[in-house]
Amino acid sequence: MIAINNVHKAFNKGKANQVNAVNGIRLNIQSNEFLVIVGSNGSGKTTLLNLVAGTVFPDNGSINIDGNDVTKTPDYRRSQWIARVFQNPMSGTASDLSILDNFRLAAIRTKAKGLSIGVNDAFKQQVKEKIATLGMGLENKIEQPMGTLSGGQRQALTLLMSVMDSCKVLLLDEPTAALDPRSADVVMRTADKLITDFKLTAILITHNLKDAYNYGNRIIQMGEGAILRDLSGEQKSALKQNDLFDWFG
Ligand SMILES: Nc1ncnc2c1ncn2[C@@H]1O[C@H](COP(=O)(O)OP(=O)(O)OP(=O)(O)O)[C@@H](O)[C@H]1O
Ligand SMILES: [Mg+2]
Repeated sequence: MIAINNVHKAFNKGKANQVNAVNGIRLNIQSNEFLVIVGSNGSGKTTLLNLVAGTVFPDNGSINIDGNDVTKTPDYRRSQWIARVFQNPMSGTASDLSILDNFRLAAIRTKAKGLSIGVNDAFKQQVKEKIATLGMGLENKIEQPMGTLSGGQRQALTLLMSVMDSCKVLLLDEPTAALDPRSADVVMRTADKLITDFKLTAILITHNLKDAYNYGNRIIQMGEGAILRDLSGEQKSALKQNDLFDWFG
């Protein structure tokens, strides 16, 4: 699904303060794989995600998504495959607009042909049903401005909005870092459910080792722009939570 072939990305190239943020990474991510990335601050996790999303381009190497060479494809063109959720619950949705209008915007943004999609009752009903699947009671609040919701509620809705289109890949960069533990838990469980229900390929960056242990079917640890460890399937299942803590010794 995603093939990262010997990708390098340096910042401040040729200067004294050059940083080799991503340093020759090779990584193949299969369809329906849920990959968790851990690693210390500055190890290149976000840069790697940016390279996949297309907000940063590699110095060399190539990136394929779903069989297409997207190495030089800008982010807005990759959005046909990719949805992205950030750390800040405030980014990704418009505070002054109602939940419903935010879903309308999302539908318009992601469906080039379907400009009429957001204006009828059928759409409203569809949105209500989708929101009800979160089990947070938000389907009765769809006329309420997004800004009146808690960070956790917003992040859960942002997740839902981002996967409602036909995207196949979900990128999550510390989606719960700004949330209290309970909301973080709700958002992680929501993400996990959506990834399963929509059969998505997902990449989660997290500093929460409990989440890294509980979620996903593959885990990599990054350090200085490289992959230090890569465990999938049974290897990941066999991993103990303490092993993960030991990685950061
Ligand atoms: N636009 C940029 N200009 C210069 N340096 C950058 C830029 N983006 C990232 N870097 C540097 O590249 C390195 C990797 O950064 P990156 O954000 O990928 O790390 P990270 O693993 O996501 O860290 P964190 O856990 O703190 O989010 C860091 O040294 C960072 O300072
Ligand atoms: Mg980061």
